[in-house]
Amino acid sequence: MRSRQPDPVSLAFFSLANGMLRAWLLTLSILILNLIPGPSRAQGIDATVHDLTGGGISETCVFCHTPHAANTNVEAPLWNKPASSASYTLYDSTTIDGTVLAVGSVSVACLSCHDGTQSTDVVINAPGSRGVDINGVALRGGNRFLDDPSKPDFLGTDLTDDHPIGIQYGGFVVNGSKIDPDFVGIGEGLSTSNINGQLRWWVDTGATGGSPGVRDKTDMVLYSRDNGGAVQPFVECATCHDPHTDQDETFLRIANTGSQVCVTCHVK
Ligand code: HEC
Ligand code: HEC
Ligand code: HEC
Ligand code: HEC
Repeated sequence: MRSRQPDPVSLAFFSLANGMLRAWLLTLSILILNLIPGPSRAQGIDATVHDLTGGGISETCVFCHTPHAANTNVEAPLWNKPASSASYTLYDSTTIDGTVLAVGSVSVACLSCHDGTQSTDVVINAPGSRGVDINGVALRGGNRFLDDPSKPDFLGTDLTDDHPIGIQYGGFVVNGSKIDPDFVGIGEGLSTSNINGQLRWWVDTGATGGSPGVRDKTDMVLYSRDNGGAVQPFVECATCHDPHTDQDETFLRIANTGSQVCVTCHVK
């Protein structure tokens, strides 16, 4: 009668074969996984110059956002920086039709680095426990990337040589029925929606991946501001730029091939 116990030799052979089989299965599954195209995931902000990590700080978002103790005076979500205390010289020209408001809205957020008046690593809520300082602390002891006036990334406080910001869209009239004919109007791309009780506007670019009638990242987002008691659409820095995108090296919401960014709004 044969013993039911496997002898040590066949046991050793079995576990060796089993191990080889597992190794083969693993190799096979890695091969198969490599053959199946995964969803192509953009690297996002990590692939851009807005990734300011390094020097002991590994959190990408902390340079701009914080989950708590955010600066609610700046109209950018959960903003982690003090606003700049600079005063700006605004764009002006003899042909401009729209109202120009003081620097405000989301443009304050961009200029809190790009005017070069404070270090790019100054934040309100530093990573980790008990790091809150409403006046801001420099995470790496001061790191001003943008104080070289020879670099175009440095806008400074003189905004007269920059595309107007805080500028009313197309001489907008409150009911939206009549706008300056030099601009894309309602039904041509200018779109509006009541989102959470707030009137919002944007100019649809018709970019691939975006939906007409829906405010997408690839549309020119207009920012609602109070213009003498009426809430109206304004062009700000983030109208043309999405500070997280790796789709364009100058953070444009759509590529400016054929001046597509410009003719989204300007009828020219
Ligand atoms: C260099 C500054 C900067 C960095 C770094 C940054 N953001 Fe932002 N973020 C902004 C600004 C400015 C806005 C407002 C833009 C707007 O109005 O569309 C914003 C808006 C947002 C919004 C709301 C609008 C949207 O586009 O969805 C979310 C969510 C967001 N950021 C998440 C993040 C996360 C998560 C990270 C880190 C992976 C991050 N951000 C890193 C500047 C930054
Ligand atoms: C936390 C600081 C910070 C904030 C806030 C910030 N930026 Fe920047 N931005 C930088 C730095 C740093 C660079 C790279 C500068 C360099 O390398 O010379 C940069 C570069 C850029 C560039 C140029 C990219 C290139 O390669 O030429 C654009 C465009 C830009 N930022 C737009 C914006 C806009 C628009 C906002 C607001 C929506 C914004 N930034 C907010 C720090 C910031
Ligand atoms: C009407 C659209 C528009 C608005 C508003 C706008 N930008 Fe730009 N910005 C552009 C375009 C287009 C470029 C690319 C220019 C190029 O290719 O040289 C650009 C380039 C830049 C650059 C890179 C420097 C350069 O010239 O290459 C920085 C930095 C920048 N923008 C920051 C800002 C900031 C900060 C604001 C708000 C104060 C702002 N932008 C408002 C359209 C705009
Ligand atoms: C989101 C809409 C929008 C986009 C995109 C846009 N602009 Fe403008 N632009 C405006 C508005 C609004 C004004 C203010 C015009 C007025 O009130 O007369 C303006 C003003 C200007 C002016 C100054 C006009 C004057 O009379 O002084 C010039 C020049 C200009 N834009 C060129 C451009 C160029 C070039 C681009 C592309 C890089 C561009 N714009 C992208 C909305 C836009």
